[in-house]
Amino acid sequence: MSAGKPSILVTGGAGYIGSHTVLALKQAGYEVVILDNLVYGHRDLVEQVLQVELIAGDTSDRSLLDHLFQSRNFAAVMHFSAYAYVGESVTDPAKYYRNNVLGTLTLLESMLAASINKFVFSSTCATYGVPNFIPITEDHPQNPINPYGATKLMVERILTDFDVAYNFKSVRFRYFNAAGANPQGLLGEDHDPETHLIPLVLQTALGKREAISIFGTDYPTPDGTCVRDYIHVNDLADAHILGLEYLLNGGESEVFNLGNGNGFSVREVIAAAEDVTGMVIPVEECDRRPGDPPALIGTSEKARKILNWQPQYPGIKDIVSHAWQWHQSRHK
Ligand SMILES: NC(=O)c1ccc[n+]([C@@H]2O[C@H](COP(=O)([O-])OP(=O)(O)OC[C@H]3O[C@@H](n4cnc5c(N)ncnc54)[C@H](O)[C@@H]3O)[C@@H](O)[C@H]2O)c1
Repeated sequence: MSAGKPSILVTGGAGYIGSHTVLALKQAGYEVVILDNLVYGHRDLVEQVLQVELIAGDTSDRSLLDHLFQSRNFAAVMHFSAYAYVGESVTDPAKYYRNNVLGTLTLLESMLAASINKFVFSSTCATYGVPNFIPITEDHPQNPINPYGATKLMVERILTDFDVAYNFKSVRFRYFNAAGANPQGLLGEDHDPETHLIPLVLQTALGKREAISIFGTDYPTPDGTCVRDYIHVNDLADAHILGLEYLLNGGESEVFNLGNGNGFSVREVIAAAEDVTGMVIPVEECDRRPGDPPALIGTSEKARKILNWQPQYPGIKDIVSHAWQWHQSRHK
């Protein structure tokens, strides 16, 4: 570690985006402690790859947090931990409001008690709901259409109010679709259950699924399938370092979209996967799912300008080939 870089607490650091960011923080010379309840996180990756301290605990455990903040000297908190299954949030909203809102409020109150006032938050494009215009800018109205998106919007509102009342500074990142894996094959996406398109397509290529379902082929898009904005997880990790440093340098609270600015359709993702794997991937055409907008694409010009963020892997082929490398090694 290079001298003088502060300690950062990363909640959800044993999960997908959190783990890639912990590696980037380590490589940038920060000291990192992970707090993860391991409901979805991977202890093996923390121990074998990240090799940082892991505290197996929950953000709703106020006494654990108070003890942690009093016994260490954290300059900031990066908050990745949340439940993030949209469908489950509809059938069990209480679980989502409790974990994503109350768990976060407990964390924030403990930070206030310890006089830590710098916070990087994982929000989502799901806070926008069905877009009125594309590409989506940060000032697009926020009308989430599911409880998951609502929980993230509530935390955004809490952060706005905390700044006014307590001078609490936050960077809120609204991610589009996180995708890809560490380019060296060290880390990757390993959700169980998996709901994201790219890992599902690659699981089909590995023979773990019979076919990849395409939900809706009659959307008003060039090939009739839904278009989404995929952003490489390493580019997300880089943005987090820049957001953290922006706050450590005295930056005001801000919100940034993090996306590619380019959309790829479901058929384009499958074609990229066929190209990368050299296999024919069977598809099953299904009806549209309720609540799926035809296209979700964000502009991240603000993050490029203010944070000087420059995504390194904007192409779908890099994203899919890094994910493929990971899936082949992890899921054979
Ligand atoms: N993956 C995406 O495309 C995407 C898009 C937009 C926003 N996000 C947000 O980014 C964040 C990270 O997403 P991910 O895909 O890495 O998810 P993930 O499930 O892989 O990681 C989340 C981690 O948080 C942990 N966790 C959950 N609740 C906790 C609690 N109360 N206390 C401690 N640990 C807890 C889980 O065990 C898991 O390791 C989430 O907040 C998610 O809502 C993700």
